[in-house]
Amino acid sequence: MSAPFPDAPPVAVVGTGTMGAGIAQVAAVAGRRVRLLDAVAGAAERAVGRIRSQVKSQVARGRLAVDADALDITVAADLSGLAGCSVVVEAIAEDLTAKKTLFASLERVVATDCVLASNSSSLTPTAMGAGLAHPERLVGLHFFNPVPAMRLVEVISGLATSPAVAEQAAALGREWGKTVVHSAATPGFIVNRIARPFYAEAWRAYEERVASFAVIDAVMTGAAGFRMGPFALMDLIGHDVNEAVTRSVWAAFGFDPRFAPSLTQRALVEAGWLGRKAGRGCYGYPVAGGSGEHAAAGPVARASRVVAQDGIVPGLVTEYGPTSLSTLLARSGVRVLPGDPDDEMGLLDGTVELPCGVVLDRCNGATASSVSFALERPVIVVDRTLDDATASAIAIAASDGCPPAGIAEAVGLFRQAGMDVHVIDDIPGMIVTRTVAMLANLATDAVASGVASAQDVEVAMRLGVNYPRGPIAWGQQWGTRTVLTILDSLENWYRDGHYRAAPALRRAVLAGGGPLTGPGLSAAPGGPLPLPRNPT
Ligand SMILES: NC(=O)c1ccc[n+]([C@@H]2O[C@H](COP(=O)([O-])OP(=O)(O)OC[C@H]3O[C@@H](n4cnc5c(N)ncnc54)[C@H](O)[C@@H]3O)[C@@H](O)[C@H]2O)c1
Repeated sequence: MSAPFPDAPPVAVVGTGTMGAGIAQVAAVAGRRVRLLDAVAGAAERAVGRIRSQVKSQVARGRLAVDADALDITVAADLSGLAGCSVVVEAIAEDLTAKKTLFASLERVVATDCVLASNSSSLTPTAMGAGLAHPERLVGLHFFNPVPAMRLVEVISGLATSPAVAEQAAALGREWGKTVVHSAATPGFIVNRIARPFYAEAWRAYEERVASFAVIDAVMTGAAGFRMGPFALMDLIGHDVNEAVTRSVWAAFGFDPRFAPSLTQRALVEAGWLGRKAGRGCYGYPVAGGSGEHAAAGPVARASRVVAQDGIVPGLVTEYGPTSLSTLLARSGVRVLPGDPDDEMGLLDGTVELPCGVVLDRCNGATASSVSFALERPVIVVDRTLDDATASAIAIAASDGCPPAGIAEAVGLFRQAGMDVHVIDDIPGMIVTRTVAMLANLATDAVASGVASAQDVEVAMRLGVNYPRGPIAWGQQWGTRTVLTILDSLENWYRDGHYRAAPALRRAVLAGGGPLTGPGLSAAPGGPLPLPRNPT
């Protein structure tokens, strides 16, 4: 294949480790001439070898059609070898001083119209560009690991970044086969900021002894449709890496309780139980017998009442008013009787009565015991899902003192719908409900704060971390009012600021409970925060 850009100036990649080699690979495969530079002698040459063998294996699998040996990748002896490049992508160590020094040196070598891009995960172009002669040409170009496989790139504009440079960086990302989203230079950018609750809510649930790692993971995959459960994913990422991102975002937000790290994860890091790479993390590795359940590390969960026994399938249930449980009831094929509107028991709209008299309610952020207190009846709450019509698992929780027959009937009901049923302990927001409400909350907050457009947030979360649905669309599906009710209920229970609702969410509800992209969000343009660019 002839290079599509034979006359274009070469692209430089400085730092040829995990990310730099991946970035060089996608640039070269797209037809760019690439110049590599690394501080360690021989590292760039080794990266060229790795890239060619990676590309050959992709070609052998039929995923690429290029001549790996013909890719135009060469190694520069020093910075002066990058003089003719039109763009330099930096992927050196995550160290502000090192990056500032590199960009200052590059400025003395490259042409004035050369774009300087940084792949940093946490340092902003605002900070890295301070002191440069031309900070307007410095932009964040944040790829995801592994670069050749991950489709997303975040283009980050610092305070001084020129819109034309951001657009040049975006065009480059598209040319290299990536989907581009634009982010302001704020902590975690889009993905690493909004994704925090995926991990944090799992830790909080675990630390309240709600269920084991394996049960929480099973609920997050089987009910919520995530490709991996949070604990399995953190074991894969490495707890050192995952916790460092959490701590960096938390610190950058002034130790905002919404982003607080987990003590259990701290213990795993301190113990060196970093996940797969250490042979042990939340789970043990290699996985014995290929089973999904592994010995838990760290504090042992009480794993309350994880149900293994067969449930009793009830013949009929009684439904009080319109209920969000109807799809699940239809799947289980039970006969549903309408509740008596004059019933003195006064059951709430949306609840369902099991034959034994126990009430089923959809989780709206309150515990089963709180609902039970209000209704003066034993209650079982049902966690939310990605899609009730297709979910393969469901979590339920019973109020304190709920008769075992009620739990058995609820288990039978959902078993009959073909689902794995996980009976967890009774905490507000259960597992999926609290996680998705918080993802929608942080997504809303990011959009309303001008970090990115709602559309870019959705794309970033689906492509950057493979979410089955964008958090804003997910919140809209549940309803803005419901998401706010869940958050307020959680915040009222814990009173630690962790679940405080985004002002824009509250505003959307006050304006009629419209979509999350309603007032307060639609006005936000995305892109850089509106701070003065050229103060006089
Ligand atoms: N690893 C990830 O998952 C990931 C994802 C997104 C972004 N990032 C960011 O990408 C950057 C690189 O991360 P990585 O995981 O590839 O690191 P890495 O350790 O694999 O590679 C860094 C390379 O840079 C070289 N280097 C260090 N200082 C240098 C200098 N002054 N000049 C030239 N070369 C230098 C090192 O020799 C090494 O080869 C970091 O800023 C990181 O935050 C990493």
